[in-house]
Amino acid sequence: PANVGILAMDIYFPPTCVTQEALEGHDGVSKGKYTIGLGQDCMAFCSEVEDVISMSLTVVTSLLEKFNVDPKQIGRLEVGSETVIDKSKSIKTFLMQVFEASGNIDIEGVDSTNACYGGTAALFNCVNWVESSSWDGRYGLVVCTDTAVYAEGPARPTGGAAAIAMLVGPDAPIAFESKLRGSHMSHAYDFYKPNLASEYPVVDGKLSQTCYLMALDSCYQLYCKKFEKLEGRPFSMSDSDYFVFHSPYNKLVQKSFGRLYFNDFLRNPSFVDEVARDTLAPYASLSGDDSYQSRDLEKANQQAAKHLYDAKVQPSTLIPKQVGNMYTASLYAAFASLLHNKNSSLVGKRVVMFSYGSGLTATMFSFHLQEGQHPFNLSNIVTVMNVSDKLKQRVEIPPEKFVETLKIMEHRYGGKDFVTSKDCSYLPPGTFYLTNVDSMYRRFYAKK
Ligand code: ACO
Repeated sequence: PANVGILAMDIYFPPTCVTQEALEGHDGVSKGKYTIGLGQDCMAFCSEVEDVISMSLTVVTSLLEKFNVDPKQIGRLEVGSETVIDKSKSIKTFLMQVFEASGNIDIEGVDSTNACYGGTAALFNCVNWVESSSWDGRYGLVVCTDTAVYAEGPARPTGGAAAIAMLVGPDAPIAFESKLRGSHMSHAYDFYKPNLASEYPVVDGKLSQTCYLMALDSCYQLYCKKFEKLEGRPFSMSDSDYFVFHSPYNKLVQKSFGRLYFNDFLRNPSFVDEVARDTLAPYASLSGDDSYQSRDLEKANQQAAKHLYDAKVQPSTLIPKQVGNMYTASLYAAFASLLHNKNSSLVGKRVVMFSYGSGLTATMFSFHLQEGQHPFNLSNIVTVMNVSDKLKQRVEIPPEKFVETLKIMEHRYGGKDFVTSKDCSYLPPGTFYLTNVDSMYRRFYAKK
């Protein structure tokens, strides 16, 4: 099959959110720390009636319905998530309820987990399956879902929550450039979840930033090498129309793009413009390690790449800035923002994607975009996702109430024998929600 990739997409994020400005006030940090310092506007969170399973049920049923896909046509279902609700039973098995109803139980795939990378692993599994000899002609379906919550402290404003579903098959408007993938995998303790009694990660914030940027450099260099081998000429940033990054918070995306620009400068100064050459020249001899610690270099990179950032990155930043870190869904929510903002003008364009999961696993890969055939075309995907209305219809919750909700969730985590408040007045019709967990820890959901 040719042009294997993403045929259709849908996104769901909780309607409940807290503004970063209000959170700054509540946390007593200096004004601008979260909005300018981290570059974030707003953060979505699950109220006590939502979780990764309800969000996944919502987004999967919505995608199937809106793109008119018969559940029997799905042959592989892969979930990427790092939100642990059960140490054995996969989220995928909960989603089987949607397919069993139609009599389809012949569906391969389970969950993939490694921090924010699981969604990419799930997507690759589906793409590889469609390209393999075991493909049976049906679609693959990928779900990326997480609730990102942190203990009180500087990481808390970098939370978020969402679920994204992507239908995978041949002749896709969002086609993989399969030969162009560069990965960097290694052992690090930058962000991990060793405490099985808590939903919160242990995080070394500074180390996680450095690991992210090191993996970015490494993946970019590999991607460039593979491009050169394939095309017989070097790759530079001018060869891609857009760059989409895993987005824990927007400031890191700004730094990342600056870092790629610095890579191009080091690879060949003629890849960057004249002014940038002068700005970056003083840093050319910094050793790798020093270059990650230099605040001056970081600022110089961002400044030198600013004009390109506005054109090649900014259109992908909308949802991550509004919803926050969605872990596995973050990269694909950034991509969804690009689709939302640029729609059919993306036909013929290349989009480079950077996926990062702490611990650590990272891959840079790229898409080639085509218009596609209805219902699997770019403009229909944009219509179905309906990002503007979903953002508009949200409810701002005061920080005190947000903190209170997190306390309830802490208490509930790993718990049994409880009934939720059943207050789902905020949820749009068609949304699944958690009703109760029984004495055997079995979870029950209903649809609004
Ligand atoms: N106005 C404007 N900017 C401000 C202000 C202010 N009043 N106060 C601080 N800042 C800036 C700082 O200068 C800094 O920006 P810079 O890096 O460009 O210099 C930024 O705000 C952050 O402030 P710091 O003091 O450096 O960091 P902080 O202690 O707030 O922690 C961190 C930030 C490390 C990102 C924390 O939120 C965290 O640990 N998050 C989770 C880890 C994470 O997301 N890692 C990313 C990759 S891994 C993953 O996806 C989970």
